[in-house]
Amino acid sequence: MTDQITLRRPDDWHVHLRDGAMLQAVAGYTARQFGRAIIMPNLTPPITTAAAADSYRVRILGALPAGVDFTPLMTLYLTDDADPAVVEAGYRAGSWIAAKLYPARATTNSHFGVTDIAKIGGVLERMARIGMPLLVHGEVTDPQVDIFDREAAFIDDVLIPLRARLPELKIVFEHVTTEEAVAYVSESAPGIGATITPHHLVINRNALFAGGLRPHAYCLPVAKRERHRQALRRAATGGNERFFLGTDTAPHLVAAKEADCGCAGIFCAPAALEVYAGVFDEMGALDRLEAFASRNGPRFYGLPVNETRVTLRREPTAVAAELGGVRPFLAGETLPWRFVG
Ligand code: DOR
Ligand code: ZN
Repeated sequence: MTDQITLRRPDDWHVHLRDGAMLQAVAGYTARQFGRAIIMPNLTPPITTAAAADSYRVRILGALPAGVDFTPLMTLYLTDDADPAVVEAGYRAGSWIAAKLYPARATTNSHFGVTDIAKIGGVLERMARIGMPLLVHGEVTDPQVDIFDREAAFIDDVLIPLRARLPELKIVFEHVTTEEAVAYVSESAPGIGATITPHHLVINRNALFAGGLRPHAYCLPVAKRERHRQALRRAATGGNERFFLGTDTAPHLVAAKEADCGCAGIFCAPAALEVYAGVFDEMGALDRLEAFASRNGPRFYGLPVNETRVTLRREPTAVAAELGGVRPFLAGETLPWRFVG
């Protein structure tokens, strides 16, 4: 039995670091485990200008513990009136490396998002031309569509037509949660990748209702049936380079989760690698963890892999009940793997 593994330092290709006091509280958890992270732009107001992205980057760097080597990779939040020239200028200047498509009202702070993908046609054409990736929150927002079907509907309604029109546009289908998304990403033409969260590898939708309503298991896209979780576990551990690590760690204060209208988001950063290692171990695929966590993402984004290493050891690790007013994923549980550093 393998009791210790060392891999190239992983990156997290999908992170919500927030701002202000929350940023100060959570940044260290991501920076402790990962070399780089794609920083989601859904602040209030969202990151829609190069100046806003540049100053957010400075605030993130200022929130890191001393001596930590961590690079935030910034993203632009797309709105209906996004300007192709501004998108390209910010990309060329290094203010952002990708743009995020939030369909309006799909999730937290998405009310400034895109109401109709036709409205950003010019931006998407420009991104395809310059090789700038589009990161998608892949859910339709039509309230008539069942919430558990919104990701699968997004493939048919948005992704397939978009890729037919702009086959050269690089797309990351973020936080996939369904068998349909796994099949689509696996089988379609090159140029598409997908991130998979630790929590969608561990919980199915029963977790939302286990003995009562469980707000800390609620995120978007919401966890699906067990067969979808099994498809995600096969995708993450199966060696297909299109799938890579993205935690979607999304902290909210306990009071904002445990409310009449509780926020979506799971704070998985404190033990993210431990959870992924446990899943790969259960799947008999620890030898594939490095590709998923440290190689496939940089390859998709055209970035070098990290040269430093991290070690995980088979050793019980307790997850705290609460950190900085936020409940971590699997709070109070003991995990079989420890992040040594
Ligand atoms: O659960 C989620 N939380 N899904 C998202 O897409 C956004 C995120 C957040 O910002 O809290
Ligand atoms: Zn997210």
